[in-house]
Amino acid sequence: MNDNELLQEAKKARLKAYTPYSEFQVGAALLGKSGTVYHGCNIENAAYTPTNCAERTAFFKAVSEGEREFEKIAIVGGKAGDSGDVLCAPCGVCRQVMMEFCNPDTFRIILSDGPEACKIFTLKELLPCGFGPANLDN
Ligand code: THU
Repeated sequence: MNDNELLQEAKKARLKAYTPYSEFQVGAALLGKSGTVYHGCNIENAAYTPTNCAERTAFFKAVSEGEREFEKIAIVGGKAGDSGDVLCAPCGVCRQVMMEFCNPDTFRIILSDGPEACKIFTLKELLPCGFGPANLDN
C-alpha cells in the first residue's frame, strides 16, 4: 500500500473519532509487516485523562491481534467539520509507544499537510535518542 492510500485509510478511521470534549478528530492507519492495515481514532472520556489518541488505538488494536512489526503509519487530524488535512503530528506518548514496536531508523510517519501534500518522517526524526527495548538489554 502506498503512502497516499494509507492517508486515505487514516481519513476513513477519523470518521469514527469519539470527541465530545475537544471536537478535535484524529485518524490513524497503521500498516503491519503482514500487510494488514489497522485503523485507529481518538476516544475521549468525561474524566479527560483516560482519553486514547488515534495512534495508540491503532497500535493497541494491532498488537492485541498479534501483529508486532510495523512499516509505517499515516495520521490525519483537525477540528470536527474540517477536511482533516491540517498537519497533526503524534504526541509524545504516542511516539514512545511507537518506540516500543518500531525500528526508529526505518519506521515512517506520514502526516497529511494540506489537501495534496504530506510530510514524512522517520520515528528517529520525531523522537531523537529515544528510550526503547534495546536500552534494557545487557
Ligand atoms: N490526539 C490524538 O488522537 N493524537 C495525537 O497525537 C494528538 C492528540 C487527540 C487527543 C484528544 O482527543 C484530541 O486529539 C485533542 O488533544
